[in-house]
Amino acid sequence: MQLQKLVRYGYRSLTGEPHEKRDFAFYVMNQLAKWFDMRIYNKHTSWQDDEEFLAVMRRFDPSYPRIKERQFFLYNLARSLRHLPGETAECGALGGDSSHVIMSAFEDDRPHHIFDSFSGLSEPTEHDKPKTQSVRALQAGEFASPLERTKKNLAAHPQALFYKGWIPERFDEVADKTFCLVNVDVDFYEPTRDAFSFFFERLVPGGAILCDDYGFRTCPGAKKAMDEAAAGVGRQVVHVPTGQGLVLK
Ligand SMILES: C[S@@+](CC[C@H](N)C(=O)[O-])C[C@H]1O[C@@H](n2cnc3c(N)ncnc32)[C@H](O)[C@@H]1O
Repeated sequence: MQLQKLVRYGYRSLTGEPHEKRDFAFYVMNQLAKWFDMRIYNKHTSWQDDEEFLAVMRRFDPSYPRIKERQFFLYNLARSLRHLPGETAECGALGGDSSHVIMSAFEDDRPHHIFDSFSGLSEPTEHDKPKTQSVRALQAGEFASPLERTKKNLAAHPQALFYKGWIPERFDEVADKTFCLVNVDVDFYEPTRDAFSFFFERLVPGGAILCDDYGFRTCPGAKKAMDEAAAGVGRQVVHVPTGQGLVLK
């Protein structure tokens, strides 16, 4: 767009209706992004304005930022699995955001099992070292957050059950259950591998394991663990553009 036209478009938009301002902001940001070979979400996609999802997130935290694509994907996946039997679980809950998303999406009182050290990340292995130095290496102990805080955040969901400890120490306590959705968000190779191998065989047909860290350069071990474990049971991970990795049973 020529400069003159751009100035005219900008003037019209900034003095116009709110949606015109938003369209103009989108145009400017997208031009900048393209310059760096990046892309901003298509302004015609509707998920950013999905009121049902936004209401769920605001219930958890009134200052919730509008754009949280991973939580949105998790929410939709959970809703699509509501017809299945089986319970739900999360490995790596931190303050409970994604557990809240899962339990809100199911809208019933089926138990939701939460496994977390509540002491942060475990020790990384060789597999967890980022491939390049420009990517920050995550450290043991990062994301430490007290259990009591998560319990308080999830007080509206009495079906949440807490298992404090290092994965897989307390998995035995749910060995007789079946699951329809398990969210794995523990960043490193070993706990991701252990979570997959324990839960996949307990998934009901049609159930899913979602790995939050799968496509992140900060978490190469999580990708490796998911790829290996999925291949071991004849599956391939769906690499979602949000960075998540999905395996269906
Ligand atoms: C990135 S945070 C999870 C974020 C969370 N899903 C959310 O919605 O905000 C990672 C969590 O995994 C837990 N964690 C990491 N490694 C673990 C392990 N080996 N055993 C148990 N918990 C672990 C950490 O304590 C932390 O709470």
